[in-house]
Amino acid sequence: TTTVPEIRRGLAGVVADTTEISTVIRETNSLTYRGYPVQDLAASRSFEEVAHLLWHGDLPDPAQLREFRARERALRPLGRTTSELLARLPETCHPMDVLRTAVSLFGAEDPIEDDDGTAANRAKSLALLAKLPTVVAADQRRRRGLSPIPPDSDLGYAENFFQMCFGAVPEPEVVRCFEISLVLYAEHSFNASTFTARVVTSTLSDLYSAVTAAIGALKGPLHGGANEAVMHMLEEIGDPARAGEWLDGALAAKRKIMGFGHRVYRHGDSRVPMMQDALDRLVSRATDSEATRLATLHESLRRAVLTRKGIHPNLDYPAGLAYHLMGFDTPTFTPIFVMSRITGWTAHITEQLAHNALIRPLASYTGPGQRPVPTVP
Ligand code: SDX
Repeated sequence: TTTVPEIRRGLAGVVADTTEISTVIRETNSLTYRGYPVQDLAASRSFEEVAHLLWHGDLPDPAQLREFRARERALRPLGRTTSELLARLPETCHPMDVLRTAVSLFGAEDPIEDDDGTAANRAKSLALLAKLPTVVAADQRRRRGLSPIPPDSDLGYAENFFQMCFGAVPEPEVVRCFEISLVLYAEHSFNASTFTARVVTSTLSDLYSAVTAAIGALKGPLHGGANEAVMHMLEEIGDPARAGEWLDGALAAKRKIMGFGHRVYRHGDSRVPMMQDALDRLVSRATDSEATRLATLHESLRRAVLTRKGIHPNLDYPAGLAYHLMGFDTPTFTPIFVMSRITGWTAHITEQLAHNALIRPLASYTGPGQRPVPTVP
């Protein structure tokens, strides 16, 4: 008798491999990158230092940080071909599709390496880290009918992104909130987009193919696309007093409430308190009533979901509203997630190659039994 193997839909609870990069500790609701608690990193370190940590296994010393920053800044400009091709995409093209296309173009432009070794992949990873903000900022401006602002190598990673988006760098506190979001978004073990990158890498395909696939996975609203969906949801509800009524309708319609729930965290996403604190700081700085109304609605909805469904927010819930208050257009939110998660994805690509096994699960067949092909009448 053939025993039907247990099927784990969505690979829920399946441990697919080992990793040294990060661990999500469900019991204590915590997350560490190479052993360091993510909250401590976000509170005290720059995104560039965390990128170095994820790639190289430890925080950079001052000399390594200086060299990292110099190389990153020099790599920010786009090649002319890429800039011209991206500018010709339809303005209705979703920014995640623009980003996916840009990475494909980077791959097409990159000279074929005879060895796709770690050193080559490290160089490609740093180039992607440096160039993605240039693509995202140019696309937000293009959608606003504005021409791109070139990267400024005198500015740090986060400041330069604001400069390329808005032509100005905001107050240090706003930049700090943005930097905190980048550190919190950077890495999260075998989430869907990271695992996608590992699947592609496991066939020994190239880094650009793996990152392009990961961008496709992250775009979905059940994953990275949720931070944009949170903003659309808040705008759909509008009045804080309507949160409960709206939620009852949504749950009755079996809708997923964007920004809530998580496959791994069952009692709240470990990253949320720090992102919520950054959001609160942005709200307290805001002068317009819209920010206050959105913050009130944001909290009312959080309470209502917890009361009705016992479900907690994930990182996308505070991050979405925070990006809105920083002035970013909603379609720019998930591309910002990509700018951060490129570090985790490429760390996992390198790790997959270091001890590779082709990722190829089984399926339990439930189709028709074997039957003869009918003769052609
Ligand atoms: C990210 O994995 C990662 O680490 C991802 C991420 C990362 O850093 O890479 O953390 C980033 O993707 C965060 C998640 C962003 N997505 C959303 O916010 C979309 C809304 N969330 C849900 O779709 C859901 O919570 C998931 C997809 C996040 C997790 O879904 P699971 O683990 O497959 O759980 P499930 O959908 O089977 O839900 C279990 C139960 C169900 O109830 P029943 O049908 O059994 O009665 O909880 C309910 C669900 O209906 N539920 C929700 C809900 N989340 C779970 N109901 C309404 N709204 C929700 N958000």
